[in-house]
Amino acid sequence: MGKLPAKLESKLAERSANQSLRSLPEEADRVDFSSNDYLGLARERAIGKKTKDLLLLDGEWRRGASGSRLLSGNHALYPKLESFLAKHHNSEAALVFNSGYDANVGFFSSVPQRGDMVLYDELIHASIRDGIKMGNAKSYKFAHNDLEDLRTKVEKSLRALCLPTGRQSRSNDSEIYIVTESVFSMDGDSPDLKPMVQICRDKGCHLIIDEAHATGIYGDGRDLVCKMGLKDEIFARIITFGKAMGGHGAAILGSEDLKTYLINFARSLIYTTALSPHSVAGILASYHFLESNGKDHIIGLLNNIEHFNAQIRELGLEKNFIESNSAIHCLIVPGNQQVKSLAGHLQQAGYNVKPILSPTVKGGEERLRFCLHAFNTREEITSILKEVKNYLN
Ligand SMILES: Cc1ncc(COP(=O)(O)O)c(C=O)c1O
Repeated sequence: MGKLPAKLESKLAERSANQSLRSLPEEADRVDFSSNDYLGLARERAIGKKTKDLLLLDGEWRRGASGSRLLSGNHALYPKLESFLAKHHNSEAALVFNSGYDANVGFFSSVPQRGDMVLYDELIHASIRDGIKMGNAKSYKFAHNDLEDLRTKVEKSLRALCLPTGRQSRSNDSEIYIVTESVFSMDGDSPDLKPMVQICRDKGCHLIIDEAHATGIYGDGRDLVCKMGLKDEIFARIITFGKAMGGHGAAILGSEDLKTYLINFARSLIYTTALSPHSVAGILASYHFLESNGKDHIIGLLNNIEHFNAQIRELGLEKNFIESNSAIHCLIVPGNQQVKSLAGHLQQAGYNVKPILSPTVKGGEERLRFCLHAFNTREEITSILKEVKNYLN
């Protein structure tokens, strides 16, 4: 077997030296405060059974997709799922991708063109950054959830692209795309979407929202944009099925024209084997379950979020946490070594909670990331926070 080149060995040595070497964890039987299975649907047996029924009912039985969606992989369940998603999430059209990573890379590498500009929140997910890097548009970040900074960057971009600064018709065809997340994956907070929509309306920009951590939770099992009634103002939404929906895969919601464009130009859709029919049936089954039995799960999660925040206040821990009303809560513990040791302590006590190290987050902003679920008990929440409090004391 070939030896790893010295340059790569030294990169690994550097990671070891600053306590940030990643490794794959072993599954352990601990109380789950780490997975993205917010509603507990990944472990819902009824969805497994419904998946099997849907597979037997629809189209030719096939274990694998057998090809790209553009060739032999577009199983009869795909159009069913996409029309369901469009209706459920109040969109003109939906296009399913193999994962949220693929959806973002496909969108951002193909939609913004040379001469366009992409403005992204500085904490945006890696998949969006990777997609932007693969494309030809210029890009700038704006400060996290900072509308003033966004306004400034929009004005600068309009000047740089020689576009009128009002909403007058444009003298050239440069476009500005603005992208944010409805619930941030590493902070659990949300942008103020209404004024952001207003900026896009006033300045003629296209808004794209990654709804990965909101899918299936807000707006009665839809997403945050639906809950806020903003769907007509959004150019594209990315929803994912690997988190609250308990499965795998993703979709881009937008117009029929956008869907046609992506089918023609999004390379992460074109040049890959499609999701297996079993996965597609699993997504449909999850949504059917959510529609018929999901209300209790959603209420359970929202109650646990409320209880978590109440306990933080009671224990005087608010200043250690990033403010959040979502399923993701982060306790800032600066330093890779320090955050790893608190995580180790909680793991020993029987809780599965993960440290987020730099460089995944900025140095000094290392954190413990608590993911809350519908199935966590109030006692589990109270006792893990007491354990944290004792440790910090
Ligand atoms: C905000 C955001 N977008 C996209 C993704 C990627 O989704 P997937 O896990 O389906 O590839 C993630 C996953 O962590 C995410 O947090």
